[in-house]
Amino acid sequence: METFSLKNGMLVGVASAATQIEGGELDHSWMDWYQKGRIADGSSPARANDHYNRWEEDAKLMRELNIRVYRLGVEWARIEPQEGKFDEDVIEHYISEIELLKSYGIEVLVTLHHFTNPMWFETKGAFEKKENTAYFIRFTEKVVSAFGLLVNEYITINEPNVYAVNGYFFGVWPPGEKSFFKTVRVMSVLAAVHIEAYQKIHSLRKQMGFEDTKVSFANHVRVFAPQDPDKAAHRFFAGLNERFFQGALSKAMYTGVIKFPISKIGNVKKGQYCDFIAMNYYTRSTVSGLGDGVKQGAPVNDLGWEIYPQGILECAAMLHKISPLPIYITENGTCDNTDEFRCLYIYEHLKALCESDLPIARYYHWCFCDNFEWVEGESARFGIVHIDYETQSRRVKKSGMFFRDLILANGVDEALYDEYIKGAQYRTSRAE
Ligand code: BGC
Repeated sequence: METFSLKNGMLVGVASAATQIEGGELDHSWMDWYQKGRIADGSSPARANDHYNRWEEDAKLMRELNIRVYRLGVEWARIEPQEGKFDEDVIEHYISEIELLKSYGIEVLVTLHHFTNPMWFETKGAFEKKENTAYFIRFTEKVVSAFGLLVNEYITINEPNVYAVNGYFFGVWPPGEKSFFKTVRVMSVLAAVHIEAYQKIHSLRKQMGFEDTKVSFANHVRVFAPQDPDKAAHRFFAGLNERFFQGALSKAMYTGVIKFPISKIGNVKKGQYCDFIAMNYYTRSTVSGLGDGVKQGAPVNDLGWEIYPQGILECAAMLHKISPLPIYITENGTCDNTDEFRCLYIYEHLKALCESDLPIARYYHWCFCDNFEWVEGESARFGIVHIDYETQSRRVKKSGMFFRDLILANGVDEALYDEYIKGAQYRTSRAE
């Protein structure tokens, strides 16, 4: 069957992160990374989508695209530009934005930390040190108290494994370290800080008289497959990557069960530290050693990442086994600079989700507008809305129209299939 319907009650929308869209001259780790010349195309996060000034236009456009749920981030370096000095105007700005979104019928899920640290926190050693977690908890307290009734769903930390591995193992993200020891230390500290933030958000909102709090962290997971399944070494490394990159950390963060290579930091007890599974899924890695790799001849996106729709289910099932809770796909998307295959990507991933027995409650596409893609800068486009960075004009792509129509139709019917999907194809990595 080519058609499918969204699951009962499933809500569909888009995701973004503050640093990637807002713009502005801020004193944070990604501005510092840019100043060090580390962004591939030389673009600065100070430009991005200028969303901090264009938030009303963007909210209207979301409404036009029938977006029902929006995952957005707040920028720590903007809210607390100097240690202990909070900018109340910035908090008010976010409150106005969230109120506007909600008046359009768009529910928000707020991310508190999405890769970026204020420089005052970065220079203290950020999450390398357990004692620094108090700063993040204080920031969390500030935001959650200010948002009060307005926001009941939070993501504490986005992709702790990606943050740790890119920043401390491969050294391609700030702070540019290459140490296995530090990588697992940062992962361990992040597990502890998530658990503390989880408890803090619950207790704060309870004190305010609200019982509907939902908290999780956005877990980046991928499928690890052996390059040659007949080789024991390849199978071994697939398992090792899985455990080091995501397996042990997922267990620690969801349940407080600490297993190698994660170490126990502070007074973490066994428990349940998420109210839903928040999963970010993009790709499968085909490996023969420690690291990443792509299956020969597989469909790939413009960054060379394999497109493997079935993997979204394999990963969701794996996490659901650890914590059998409702699943929010908090990110799924692809770099397709010319919007040739994004419709097909969305279709195949959503179809797989909707046809499964797993309790998929939300799907947030990554992302709304093309934006500042970390070290790739402005050169990698993931949006369903095209940005002209010079003029900041927004244009809905074909994939944006498909997304709008599928939300309205509550799935993909034959007419939508014929209009957007029929005949669409991916490119492949290398001929087999
Ligand atoms: C991150 C996003 C990023 C996306 C595409 C995810 O790992 O959370 O910030 O833009 O992947 O690379």
